[in-house]
Amino acid sequence: MRKMSYPYQITSFEAYQEAYQKSIEDPAAFWESVAEHFVWKQRWTSKDQVLNWNFTDPNIEWFKGAKLNITENCLDRHLAERGNQPAIIWEPNSPDEPHRIITYKKLHEKVCSFAQVLKNNGVHKGDRVCIYMGMIPELAIAVLACARIGAIHSVVFGGFSAQSIADRLEDAKAEFIITCDGAFRGAKDIPLKAVIDEALIGNKIVKRVIVCTRTHTPVSMIKGRDVWWEDEMKQVEERGNLFIEAESMDAEDPLFILYTSGSTGKPKGVVHSTAGYMIYTTYTFVNVFQYQPNQIHFCTADIGWITGHSYIVYGPLSAGATSLLFEGVPTFPDAGRFWDIVDKYKVNILYTAPTAIRSLMGFGLGPLQGKDLSSLKVLGTVGEPINEEAWHWYDEHVGKKKCPIVDTWWQTETGGCLISNMAGITPAKPSWATLPMPGVQLLLVDEKGEEIKAAADETISGNLCIKAPWPSILRTTYGDHERCRTNYFATYPGLYFTGDGALRDKDGNYRITGRVDDVLNVSGHRIGTAEVENAINMHAGVVESAVVGFPHEVKGQGIYAYVIYQGSQAQDSHGSGDLVRKDILQTVTRIIGAIAKPDKIQFVSGLPKTRSGKIMRRILRKIAEGETENLGDTSTLLDPGVVDEIKRGRR
Ligand code: WTA
Repeated sequence: MRKMSYPYQITSFEAYQEAYQKSIEDPAAFWESVAEHFVWKQRWTSKDQVLNWNFTDPNIEWFKGAKLNITENCLDRHLAERGNQPAIIWEPNSPDEPHRIITYKKLHEKVCSFAQVLKNNGVHKGDRVCIYMGMIPELAIAVLACARIGAIHSVVFGGFSAQSIADRLEDAKAEFIITCDGAFRGAKDIPLKAVIDEALIGNKIVKRVIVCTRTHTPVSMIKGRDVWWEDEMKQVEERGNLFIEAESMDAEDPLFILYTSGSTGKPKGVVHSTAGYMIYTTYTFVNVFQYQPNQIHFCTADIGWITGHSYIVYGPLSAGATSLLFEGVPTFPDAGRFWDIVDKYKVNILYTAPTAIRSLMGFGLGPLQGKDLSSLKVLGTVGEPINEEAWHWYDEHVGKKKCPIVDTWWQTETGGCLISNMAGITPAKPSWATLPMPGVQLLLVDEKGEEIKAAADETISGNLCIKAPWPSILRTTYGDHERCRTNYFATYPGLYFTGDGALRDKDGNYRITGRVDDVLNVSGHRIGTAEVENAINMHAGVVESAVVGFPHEVKGQGIYAYVIYQGSQAQDSHGSGDLVRKDILQTVTRIIGAIAKPDKIQFVSGLPKTRSGKIMRRILRKIAEGETENLGDTSTLLDPGVVDEIKRGRR
């Protein structure tokens, strides 16, 4: 039995089973009992208010009518007991620069001051604020300050291009931007403000850009539009009033928008609401990682992704934890960076992506030597399936076989972990995400949406769906509810469809086998093949393209692009086409960002299509994977000859 430090902390396997059972029998009663342990401005008055839903519209409401502010839960409620405890420990990109420790008291002050700055700049409840910053404490402060006044934040990862930002600004109709002059990432220095300036060419909606200093890169500051973070903060702080009242929000008011890739060309703005998201991220943070007060939690994700939102900012802070925020990359200045950080701060929980583990494995055991990792208690992974080799390396060399590893499966749309073992409480199984969290009702279906039932002792395989809402399920896709319905609730009516395939073993453990739609998972980042194709097709000379994934040793999946190119350069007299390839990569970087650059580009004269003109991706995927013999049924192909050419030209 573990120590129960939170009233809803599960401390044994039996307690997990019991909680799961209760959560299924009476979800409203179950989550009501968890919700009681949060700070509300006005509670729900009857059990009927706890949950109302249907998956047809869809319409999902948890605690609607009750009022709260998530920042009172993340900050104010901790002040009396842990005001002087570090809320955020910030480790900069370069180990030579001093780190920063921000206590709950200080963070509360800063969030209040910056909330006042937002108000002074005309930001109101419900306004959308785009945040494009590097991993500095001010990013967390900006996010929380928006929540404090009820503005809806939309954080865009610092690796996205000006074009991607412009699209997101327009979709969200955002009038405000918070950014930095630049960001440090490893040996690179990214000019964030310059990217914003480019994104704003032709934009008539954005009224104000607040710029925080980080890299001291020269930037253009446009009169009447751009202001410095530091000047604005100084004005507020000089007045000395470091408290502002938290806006009263309905439980169902939107908290944030986060854009993510789907199978269409355009990213979707996933909308999360306030109370359900808060309750579920806190609950899973405490239970999955078995957090104990005063432990140091180090999640290596960027706040630009859902993992950073839920398990660097909201979940840990709501639980009163100490969250370590790291600006850099795992291999800078060398591949021992994570281990130095664990050693320096005596980190207790390390939560990272399989890609990072595989990349560090590649450097051998040298970087681990002489690093004291004995403070580690729990290890976690997220974002993609973890292969057994990486799992065992993590277990042996990082956890020294003493730390449970939690393999957490979830999505931007789910807000928090849905399938995972609970550290030391429920059993781990290498490369299996294992069991559902309380409140999560999973099923596997076949192509037709029929539930696949297992005979005793059988492992089954199917498309992963969910029967009923958990508190942090997405509520809509911003500005287009129909899109939310068709994307998630229409493939199998009455069910939420995850887009993932999975296996379930006789003990009820789940293993995620990967996406079954046209979405790739590259280094744990979701990228839609249609988005990459659109970007490639923007390049002058490209006639058509088809993008598929292929297994990649470090990234999990790599991006393979088949391109029909018109013009002499691709097949120039040197025959290589390398310069055109580079131009195409440059175009993709411009349109989406470097994360979407194809690893391989093959020029082809045609694509395998059916008579109705549909690209047969299955064939392209097999060839990209290196399978050239068993391509399956090719009888519906319009021109089978093209397949032989593609096979010969494989890269
Ligand atoms: C994949 C990241 C296997 C999955 C939190 C999902 C995983 C997509 C795991 C969501 C895991 C995430 N094992 N696959 N533990 N975690 N995935 O929205 O395909 O960036 O649908 O959220 O990542 O990616 P997203």
